[in-house]
Amino acid sequence: MSTSPSIDQSKLRSVEHRLRLEHLVSPTEPSDDELHPGSDVVRGLTQTPKTLPARYFYDDRGSELFELICELPEYYLTRTETEILQQYAGAIAEITGACELIELGSGSSTKTRILLDAYQDSGQELIYCPIDISAGILESSAERLLLDYPDLHIHGFIGTYELALQKLPDSELPTRVIGFIGSTLGNLNPQACDLFLQQITDALKPGEYFLLGIDLHKAKAQLEAAYNDSQGITAEFNLNMLRHLNRRFDGDFDLTQFEHVAVYNEAQRQVEMHLKSLRSQTIHLKALDLTVEFEAGETILSEISRKFDLDKMQHLLESKGLMPIRVWTDQNQWFSVLLCQLK
Ligand code: TRP
Repeated sequence: MSTSPSIDQSKLRSVEHRLRLEHLVSPTEPSDDELHPGSDVVRGLTQTPKTLPARYFYDDRGSELFELICELPEYYLTRTETEILQQYAGAIAEITGACELIELGSGSSTKTRILLDAYQDSGQELIYCPIDISAGILESSAERLLLDYPDLHIHGFIGTYELALQKLPDSELPTRVIGFIGSTLGNLNPQACDLFLQQITDALKPGEYFLLGIDLHKAKAQLEAAYNDSQGITAEFNLNMLRHLNRRFDGDFDLTQFEHVAVYNEAQRQVEMHLKSLRSQTIHLKALDLTVEFEAGETILSEISRKFDLDKMQHLLESKGLMPIRVWTDQNQWFSVLLCQLK
C-alpha cells in the first residue's frame, strides 16, 4: 500500500523523536504487593476499622470518573487551582528559568498545559517529565502534548512516586522543578506526608524547586459538598472501587448494598471517604481466597483528603529545607499554590 506522507505522519514522526518513556525498576527486592497482588486488599479488609488502598480507584472507569469530578460545580479544587496557576504561571517560569519539570501523578495533564504555555511564552527551554503508574495514560497524554507543543521534549517515567524520587537520572537541564499539584499531598496521612517531603528534599539539589498545590481548611458544609456532589459522581467513583475489586479478584461485592459517605472530620481536618455496608453481609474475593463479614452500617475507609492550614504547611516545608519563596492563593483563600526552593 502506498501512502504519500501526510502532514499527520510527519507530525507523528517528529513526535516520536521528542518522546522517551522509561520504566522505573525497583532497586531492591520486589515488594510484597508486587509478589502477591492483592495482599494490600487482604490487609485492609481484615483490619479494624476496614480500609482499602486508594490506588484501586483508578481503573479506566475510575480515571474517567475522576476527570468528571474535576469539572463538578461543587468540586471547587480544580477550578481554583487552575485559576491560581493561570495567574502566576508566568512568574513561575520567570523564577525557575529553563528547567526539567517533573510532575508526580500527571493524569490528563490539563493543568500542566498552563505551565507549558508559560515556559513556551517566556522562551525558556523545558523538558517535561511526567510520572505515572499507568503506561497507557502516560503515553496517550504525552502524544497529545507533543502535537500541541512543537518544541517540547517529554521524558516520562512509568512507576510510583517513591521509585521516581529515588531513581530519577540527573537532570539534563540546569534546574529541576518537582510539581505535585491537585492537593494529592492531602491524600497522605501525616506520617506519609512527612516521609514524602523528605523524599522531595533528597531528590533536589540546593536551589532547585518544589511546586505544590494544596487545599485549605474551610467550612464543613462546603467541604462535604465537594466530596458528595448532587449528581452522585463522587459516589459512583467511590463505589467503582468495589467493581474494580470484583473484576480483579473475582469478587461478589453487591454495589447496591454499599453507600458512599463523605464526612469532614474537623478535629483531624480531613475529609474521610467511606463505603458503608447497608446490611450485614458476607463478601468473597475468590482470587485472594478471602471472605469478609460486614455488620450493618460498618464502613470501609477508602480515602482521606486533608485540608491544610497555610501557616502550618509553610512551617512544615521550611523544616524540610523547602523554603516557600512564593505563596499564592485565590481571593477566597480556598486553595494555595506554593513555589518552594531547597535551601
Ligand atoms: N486529590 C483529590 C482530593 O483529595 C482526590 C479526590 C477527589 C477523591 N475526590 C475524591 C478521592 C473522592 C476519593 C474520593 O480532593
